Amino acid sequence: MTRAARQIVHRDNVLLTEHAEPDGMDVFAPVTNGDKLNFYGLAVAPEIRWIRNSTNQLVQLYQDYVPGSARAIGLLLQLAEECRALIKELFLGFGDRENCRIEFVGGTSRAVEVALARTGRPRKVIISPFEHPSVMEVAKWFVAVSGAELCPLRVAPQDHFRRWPEQEDALVAQVAEALKDAETATLVLSEVNYATGVVIPVEQVIDRLYRFTSRSALKIVLDGAHAAGNNQNPKGIGKCSSYVFSAHKWLLAPEPCGVIVSFNPPSDELVPYDAWNSALPATTVNVHMLAGLVSSLRLLKKLDMERLWEHSRQLRRRFIDRTQSLFRVVGEGSGMGTTLLLAICPRSERRWKFAASELSAYLQNNSVHALVMSIDPEVAWIRVAFPCFIDFEHVDVLCDVLETTLN
Ligand SMILES: Cc1ncc(COP(=O)(O)O)c(C=O)c1O
Repeated sequence: MTRAARQIVHRDNVLLTEHAEPDGMDVFAPVTNGDKLNFYGLAVAPEIRWIRNSTNQLVQLYQDYVPGSARAIGLLLQLAEECRALIKELFLGFGDRENCRIEFVGGTSRAVEVALARTGRPRKVIISPFEHPSVMEVAKWFVAVSGAELCPLRVAPQDHFRRWPEQEDALVAQVAEALKDAETATLVLSEVNYATGVVIPVEQVIDRLYRFTSRSALKIVLDGAHAAGNNQNPKGIGKCSSYVFSAHKWLLAPEPCGVIVSFNPPSDELVPYDAWNSALPATTVNVHMLAGLVSSLRLLKKLDMERLWEHSRQLRRRFIDRTQSLFRVVGEGSGMGTTLLLAICPRSERRWKFAASELSAYLQNNSVHALVMSIDPEVAWIRVAFPCFIDFEHVDVLCDVLETTLN
């Protein structure tokens, strides 16, 4: 670990020390992943002390009530209801709050699987070019079981820099092509590109698609894994079959938890055996997942999402100011919305000193944990996230390290 990183890794976050509890407990645990500064991008939210303590207390209460007793079950149902109410209050627009159903399952991939299964028996499953590899795995599984055809759409690495209207034309044309020989299809579309953090204007895309096809011929599942809570709230809920997102990423839940939001769902829709629907799941009643989710949502409400986002936006600005002479942000100039997640690559006159695999090890050896991606085989991209528990000094360490990665 570098000396600079060692000095700051256990320092408290400027924003969040304001939120020390009366008993002197700091709300946030150190920003470490082991001894690394964590810019990885929230594959699973790190341990945050306040959330962990609150989770443990709720699990203890459940134990005290005796698992399986009416009182313990009542507690779980009450916590699930609180989660739904907090999600509506913190993340959903007024129009979406009414008439929507919110369910919880054991991860985002499972949420995508359930959402896919509810689209009936599509002949094709179309995967947008912005999907995470896990979603592709779910789709492969689903088509193997259902007999549908898998249809992944493609985008060349350099196309991520094109203006969005051009990208949108290409996307819509590919979907139209895929629909030519399929009576029914399901499209999975991310609201935020997991690799570059740019926002895909999903409502606009959906409106365009439904100009040449119908809602019964094309079902749409929106994947908001990196959208909900990442400087924005889910969009397009009322226009898709299901909107799924992760509680264990930008919502800071300590255990994997996928959320499925369905607007005006048909009353006879299948309830998956492992979903927290209106009753307890038939299997895998994961008490930790629910206790963790309610705890993270309570913390976000207490700290105020808008304030947390503002802190992260400032971190992002600091990072770009410091690195823009050396690195490009992937998608800059495309006109797409930005989030608290971005990818960088060296400016054209610059080169990495390292191959992609060595670059990752170099960052780790210098106390920085960030995702090195090989989406462009010519030049590695690094994904950097600015969640609320990062501080300005951590960003400075990252910038110092990045400056040493180029020739
Ligand atoms: C956009 C997107 N969808 C789905 C997933 C899969 O999430 P999980 O690992 O919770 O199944 C990820 C993971 O990072 C993601 O980024």
